[in-house]
Amino acid sequence: LARNIHYRETIDSTQRLAHQLVQEGCPDGTLVIAEQQTGGRGRLRRSWYSPKYTGIWMSIVLRPDLPPQMAPPFTLIAAVAVAQAIEETAGIVPEIKWPNDLLIGGKKCAGILTELEADTDRIQAVITGIGINVNETDFPDPLKSIATSLSLASGKKVKRALLIQRILEKLEKYEEIYLQNGFAPLKILWESYANVAGKKITAHTLKGDISGSAVGITDDGVLQLEGEDGQMHAIYSADIEIER
Ligand code: BTN
Repeated sequence: LARNIHYRETIDSTQRLAHQLVQEGCPDGTLVIAEQQTGGRGRLRRSWYSPKYTGIWMSIVLRPDLPPQMAPPFTLIAAVAVAQAIEETAGIVPEIKWPNDLLIGGKKCAGILTELEADTDRIQAVITGIGINVNETDFPDPLKSIATSLSLASGKKVKRALLIQRILEKLEKYEEIYLQNGFAPLKILWESYANVAGKKITAHTLKGDISGSAVGITDDGVLQLEGEDGQMHAIYSADIEIER
């Protein structure tokens, strides 16, 4: 991975440039990385706070030769790679909140945005945007209560270059495992970081809210929720609220 690197001091969004490079035919493993984003994007059309030098803002282009139905686990694979890399470099074990928020002490330290470009039968590119709050010491007001950084949580500065290297190594390894053996072996790893199984949750989906008990994820990465009506629901995309 990352034999083709596009580095920028300032950019609107690494994700936006990655999409453009895909259109221009960039190779598998292309990495777009910036010191600062002026228009960082989060999931569900949210913006993503991306100040200069303190975080990791990057997008990785993977071009697996697979049908589009096999794309969803890539987002979970990225979450595992980032969680493990954080554990190894910062010495803290983050929790994964389905599908791919990374939390420390209930506050968000990293987020992942996976976007797909595909034809009806083939993936053109999986574009994985990774944002990690690494060495921020302070957050602006609306974020203060919900965000943290690795240095705030661990009490020490974390080397961004090392963290990036570990993430890329793991992503490459786990993509290989996924291509050869499917998601099942990686699901076990994902579950070891995940915080939802057995908990009462509400899933805010585009079709409305569903409350119930989180059962786990399937071998395709779909969240299984047992509704209050006793019915099983398969959740493909949602914002999850965990009841404490
Ligand atoms: C989320 O939790 O909502 C996902 C956040 C993803 C942020 C990253 S930072 C690098 C890449 N470029 C973007 O504009 N967004 C992603």
